[in-house]
Amino acid sequence: MLGVQTRIRKLIAKRRNASNLPAHLKRMMKLDELQHQQLSRTELYLYCAYYFDHYLPDELQAHRKYFSAAGRGFGEDAFHAMWFLLFEHFRPGTALEIGVYRGQTITLWKLLAEHFGFECDIACVSPFSSIGDSVSGYRTEINYHEDVITNHNRFNLPLPRICRSLSTSAEASTFISAGKWQIAYIDGNHDYEVALQDWETCAAALASKGIIILDDSSLQTDFRPPAFSTAGHPGPSRVAAEIDSALFSEILAVGHNRAFQKKS
Ligand SMILES: C[S@@+](CC[C@H](N)C(=O)[O-])C[C@H]1O[C@@H](n2cnc3c(N)ncnc32)[C@H](O)[C@@H]1O
Repeated sequence: MLGVQTRIRKLIAKRRNASNLPAHLKRMMKLDELQHQQLSRTELYLYCAYYFDHYLPDELQAHRKYFSAAGRGFGEDAFHAMWFLLFEHFRPGTALEIGVYRGQTITLWKLLAEHFGFECDIACVSPFSSIGDSVSGYRTEINYHEDVITNHNRFNLPLPRICRSLSTSAEASTFISAGKWQIAYIDGNHDYEVALQDWETCAAALASKGIIILDDSSLQTDFRPPAFSTAGHPGPSRVAAEIDSALFSEILAVGHNRAFQKKS
């Protein structure tokens, strides 16, 4: 019952925020046009929530609905719009996710590459277990590896390259360092020391002008999350605050996801 009430409250908040979005933003924009609008973090987030409802192709909305049902995934509708805008603009040939829960993001990436008609070598590093951290715990009754296979089959997608390990292991470090990632998404352990290590490993293995998206990293920013959103956790937010602006620039922020591009 509480779940239903929460869902209704979030739906009402979403409708209210959509009606508050200025009229000139209620149109489909690409990433570079959006960047020129110089929106606040909160406006950008609301734009992406609106984008999900009004412009995202039906099959990608259905993908989000599948993962948000029955606890199959975390995240927020606006993040699907964020990935759509990023994949449309950058057409990444390589993409790495650290921290896979039940496969929402890696399957979305595959669908996006198919949608835009390019090849993307997708890889991931995750223990495929219920291991959590100081701010998150996960269900223990799921066989996560089998579940991720089931969810790929659900969308007729091939599996990504998998390193079944904690990101802090030597095996994972070798796996990540062997790539030249155009996109790296950090969403594994949210404790500062681990998130920092993930950042450093990914930054060292990033392609020229590559992007790192740091999940849960918008605390201490001016993002004001509406009722259906959150600003993240202290660990990744501290990592984001410490990023060297001589090396990376922040090119997009959608709620608690912040995208940083390597300058060289
Ligand atoms: C918030 S969930 C990630 C959700 C993910 N973005 C998705 O769409 O599937 C974090 C996941 O990271 C895993 N994890 C925890 N510690 C990790 C570590 N050190 N390295 C990699 N993954 C880790 C957890 O078990 C959990 O499945």
